Amino acid sequence: MSDLIEGFLGKSIEGKKSRMPAKLDYLQSATGLFLGLFMWGHMFFVSSILISKDFMYTITKFFEGSAFLKEPQSWLVSIVVFIVFVIFISHALLGMRKLPINFRQWQAYRTHMSMMKHEDTSLWFIQAFTGFAMFFMGSAHLFMMMTKAHEIGPFGSSDRMYSDFMWPFYLLLLLAVEFHGGIGLYRLCVKWGWFEGEDAKISRKKLKQAKWAITVFFLALGLLTLAAYVKIGYEHREHVGERYIPTAQIEMQYDVKVRA
Ligand code: HEM
Repeated sequence: MSDLIEGFLGKSIEGKKSRMPAKLDYLQSATGLFLGLFMWGHMFFVSSILISKDFMYTITKFFEGSAFLKEPQSWLVSIVVFIVFVIFISHALLGMRKLPINFRQWQAYRTHMSMMKHEDTSLWFIQAFTGFAMFFMGSAHLFMMMTKAHEIGPFGSSDRMYSDFMWPFYLLLLLAVEFHGGIGLYRLCVKWGWFEGEDAKISRKKLKQAKWAITVFFLALGLLTLAAYVKIGYEHREHVGERYIPTAQIEMQYDVKVRA
């Protein structure tokens, strides 16, 4: 009965409002923080290809459990992707609550944005737009990584980029991720007062500078990484599907042959 009254009046019998919106906001921040920090790690792991194919291969096998298993297992990666996927979808569902859902709400937001000319209000629009786009593109990428974890590697990933013509998709995803993540982490700091210091105005200015620096850094790293995968994919186009054999293994096979 009390649920029914609250449902109609927006307040409980004791005249209190539900704490649920605050709890959902907290959850949205926590999942966003996790995903933002995860993406920093992800970009460094994926960019290991810039050092060498062998290095990217070693990182891939590490995530497949090479440190403690005789035979690395790609399903370990699938499990991690599944967990990230659940957090990703939860974050997207929580974010959807904030989107304008009809023309009137959209009109009110646009009028506010153009009247206020406040950068943070405009940034919110970029975040909402990129978030919407990522809901589809991020889900497609995560589903692919979960079901085809065994293909991840210097040649598998590069073939996907070039021969499967996935690079335009990754380019759009990269732009969406870097803008969304950068703005998201900045907004988290402002919302919860992290790094606020004595003067909130000065610290907000510094935070904004840091946000742009981080976005530019990860965009540059991401574009270089994308170019490296495309280049390898192009060079490997005649041998699509062939797995990468690390240099040490080739040398060992050669040694055995020479000795024989
Ligand atoms: C545990 C989960 C994840 C794994 C294992 C993973 C793995 C990978 C791998 C191996 C690549 C290289 C290309 C390929 O093989 O297809 C890649 C690229 C990429 N991933 Fe993920 N990913 C994960 C989660 C995410 C999430 C949540 C996002 C953002 C929504 C994301 C965004 C990207 C982007 C933008 C690229 C292109 C990077 C670049 O161009 O530098 N990934 N990912």
